[in-house]
Amino acid sequence: MRTTRRGLLIGAGAAALLAGGGIVAGLASRRGKIALAAERRVIEVNGRAATVGALRQPDGTLGARFRAGDRFRATLSNRMVEPTLIHWHGLRPPVEQDGVPDLSQPLLAPGDAYDYDFALREPGTFWMHSHHGLQLQGLLAAPLIIAEDDGADEQEVVLMLHDFSVRAPAEILADLKAGIMPGMGAMPGMPGMDHSAPAGQSAEAGSDLGMPGMDHGAPAGHGAEAAPDLNEVEFDAYLANDRTLADPELVAVERGGRVRLRVINGASSTNFVLDLGVLEGELIAVDGRPVLPVRGRRFGIAMSQRLDLRLRLDAAGAFPVLAIREGDRRATGLVLRTPGAAVARISESVPMAAEPLSFAEEQALRPRDGLPERPVDRRLAIALTGGMAPYVWGLDGAGPEAMREYPVAAGERVEITLDNRTTMSHPMHLHGHVFQVVGGNGARFAGALRDTVLVPYRGNVTIAFDADNPGAWMLHCHNLYHMEAGMRAVLRYG
Ligand code: C2O
Ligand code: CU
Repeated sequence: MRTTRRGLLIGAGAAALLAGGGIVAGLASRRGKIALAAERRVIEVNGRAATVGALRQPDGTLGARFRAGDRFRATLSNRMVEPTLIHWHGLRPPVEQDGVPDLSQPLLAPGDAYDYDFALREPGTFWMHSHHGLQLQGLLAAPLIIAEDDGADEQEVVLMLHDFSVRAPAEILADLKAGIMPGMGAMPGMPGMDHSAPAGQSAEAGSDLGMPGMDHGAPAGHGAEAAPDLNEVEFDAYLANDRTLADPELVAVERGGRVRLRVINGASSTNFVLDLGVLEGELIAVDGRPVLPVRGRRFGIAMSQRLDLRLRLDAAGAFPVLAIREGDRRATGLVLRTPGAAVARISESVPMAAEPLSFAEEQALRPRDGLPERPVDRRLAIALTGGMAPYVWGLDGAGPEAMREYPVAAGERVEITLDNRTTMSHPMHLHGHVFQVVGGNGARFAGALRDTVLVPYRGNVTIAFDADNPGAWMLHCHNLYHMEAGMRAVLRYG
């Protein structure tokens, strides 16, 4: 199936490639219970075999698909030689079924199984992933789709993004701790590595956007201001449904048809800018929750976030949908292709570096239904702290050895202001709840409902939620290495 250096992908080959894909999740029957195995599988990345994680059903389907109104009923078996535990990212189960080691349930030992059974509260694009150690970097993750019967005549396309390294995740973390940029080797004097200056002090001069030695275009509007540190890890590949642009998935679509594209950023340490090319899309949901439609061609997607886009294919052709690493030129993606259309070779490097994800885009989002208005019972202010040298990240200064707990009481409307004192942006995720983004960088607004918000570097974001799901819930950065290096806490109530 795979030819490495080809100028064109044509005709029959495409159908065969599609058949091998298998990323689109199979439907769980309405009352049925699905079987999910956490196991290993071999994929091929740029011509080399790689053993990665899989969360799949007996028929090979990766992940799961339910209908709104179903219950989440699943048996999860661990078919690996190491323990694991799987989190249903974005769902709001009772805490014992949330899949966080120790807070929810003990690790699932090799050969053992757990049963899950809880009500699914709303449709949307979600995902599942290991919440143990660095297993997410090993691709132990899959889509989790809750489909709605909205009568729309559209084709569903799931696009799951990953960052991929041939190295062991533990080695990547060790390099980060040693001040070496993983994948690049030692870089003495690299700006962006020594951020010992206390937060709030003068802005750093120059544009250390990303890492030196790489060809980054400066983003418009930044001028001489400090720029965020981006992309701590150089990966070997960026994957879209397990494939690179050297051999992308070709999705057969109809001319004149409509596509609902569900994009999931399952990367461990990479934010992307989604680029629809010549297609104009309509963003209709973020993190599975509807927003007032936003038309556009480029949309930022931080680690663990999801975007639902509605696309119209008016003309025949092959339409690449790219995900470009923020602040960089490296890209991955898939191709929507009408029957018979020729597919040109797509470079894995786009001509212009993508802009860093912008808070302005977040600020412009409006939910279809926001949280009901009510007075705020509790306000928490939490600082995002730490940096790369030493490699310790935290909340309110607590590092990896001490996990802070913040008090909340059942029934309260809670607002948390996340104040970023670091030189990177952080995708902050709250388990077990949906929150509304209600402010940031000094402004108040009625923003999107989400489960993960990107807190801009040196900026802040305020989120609001109702404490309606008692338990001990993690609040953490979804950059896997930041979480592991201490950027995590617990909200406990009830
Ligand atoms: Cu998607 Cu605590 O995780
Ligand atoms: Cu972070």
